Amino acid sequence: MADQTLLYPRWLRLWHSVNGILCLFLMVTGLVMQYASPSTIVFSFPTAITVHNICGILLILNWIIFIIANALSRNGSYYKISLKLIRESTVQFRYYISGMFKGEPKPFKEDSDRKFNPLQQLTYWLAMYVILPLIVITGFIMINIEQLLSDEHGIFIYQIADLLHICAAFFISAFMFIHFYLAALDGKTNFKKII
Ligand code: HEM
Ligand code: HEM
Repeated sequence: MADQTLLYPRWLRLWHSVNGILCLFLMVTGLVMQYASPSTIVFSFPTAITVHNICGILLILNWIIFIIANALSRNGSYYKISLKLIRESTVQFRYYISGMFKGEPKPFKEDSDRKFNPLQQLTYWLAMYVILPLIVITGFIMINIEQLLSDEHGIFIYQIADLLHICAAFFISAFMFIHFYLAALDGKTNFKKII
């Protein structure tokens, strides 16, 4: 059994908690902005925008910290992708949808060389190096919305950024629910190591 304090150092646990809380706020306020009428129940519309923008800026800063810390520490070595990893992910996926329910053993053992199973490695890489950059860049573009909407060229940029932002928001929200379910399969101790 690998030493969990080495695999999940303090900076990583702190980053993850801040990231999770901000993403929850961003999802709720994002949904309010998308679906609610101006006099809505949970937050008023302007409050949702302000909270979304503040959490968005904090998420960008937190994401930059993760990228730098990952590049400078051993944790970055768990975020390499390859064709082999994609092949192995299909084996892990089969385990999740069938093998697991038949009581088969886990196809990959996790230790200090393999911190994540292949599917985790692939999805964590996708979340942190593809989807989150997309969401923070498009969010950042839209922050100055009044100025963007003041000319035709800006409206076009806004529409593209908004579409990509919503798609990325959908994927990160879906990721979060599946991530929670799969993390819960390994019991309470699995949550303790990341808090
Ligand atoms: C987990 C992360 C995030 C989620 C789930 C999310 C979700 C959403 C959703 C659903 C909308 C509504 C889109 C619409 O109605 O057209 C939205 C709008 C917006 N988001 Fe995010 N967002 C996230 C991160 C960010 C970040 C990091 C920023 C950067 C500061 C940001 C800035 C904005 C802005 C400025 C808008 C307003 C666009 C408009 O009024 O149409 N968001 N977001
Ligand atoms: C609030 C809901 C969340 C819970 C309960 C949760 C739970 C966990 C747990 C238990 C782990 C460690 C064990 C494992 O890998 O299965 C973990 C790791 C991780 N989570 Fe989450 N998570 C949440 C939200 C998020 C979000 C929103 C993201 C990304 C946008 C995220 C990205 C990650 C990443 C990248 C790792 C691996 C970190 C590393 O060791 O390098 N999590 N999470």
